Amino acid sequence: QQTLYFSRHGESEFNVIGRIGGNAELSPRGRAYSQALARHVHALNLPGLQVWTSTLKRTGATSALIQAPQQHLHELDEIWSGECECLSYEELQDRFPKELALRDREKLKYRYPQGESYLDVMNRLVPVLTQLECETNVLTISHQAVLRCVLGYFLDTPHEEIPYVHVPLHTIIKLTLQGYNYNMETVKMPV
Ligand code: F6P
Repeated sequence: QQTLYFSRHGESEFNVIGRIGGNAELSPRGRAYSQALARHVHALNLPGLQVWTSTLKRTGATSALIQAPQQHLHELDEIWSGECECLSYEELQDRFPKELALRDREKLKYRYPQGESYLDVMNRLVPVLTQLECETNVLTISHQAVLRCVLGYFLDTPHEEIPYVHVPLHTIIKLTLQGYNYNMETVKMPV
């Protein structure tokens, strides 16, 4: 039976202060999650476990303690917000009010200036998604927007809803193939 595991990185210093994008380190709580995650995953004893992460520091630090082969893939990097990288949502509202209004209206198609849209992310994920479909016991550690697209793909979420899928921090998501559909279970780590 095919099982795939997913998690966002542990809380980053940017999550704490509400800034988007960037390449921040984990916060102390995020580091606690990386320990809890490794302990949880080791206890599962998954045959042939592999870990796939993005190339950003926060996912690499989240997976660092897991004993398994690791791949760091650019396709799993967070949505690139171009000129809006590293801003808080308040700064976005001040500096790019029109952009934010456009994004609110059509979040799926909205492309940040010099950056990406959710549709762009979905397109760049295709090779990884096709590969993942042929694997079992892969733990993918990535980011909020990317995991919305990944889960939306496996769970057949209507595209317009994908940018709003709830993917909380510090939660391990398990997908199990049952017939033609994936069943989802989540485990929240107490950190
Ligand atoms: O805030 C964390 C984060 O991963 C940002 O880096 C990213 O831009 C954002 O979430 C994506 O969520 P939304 O599309 O809802 O802004």
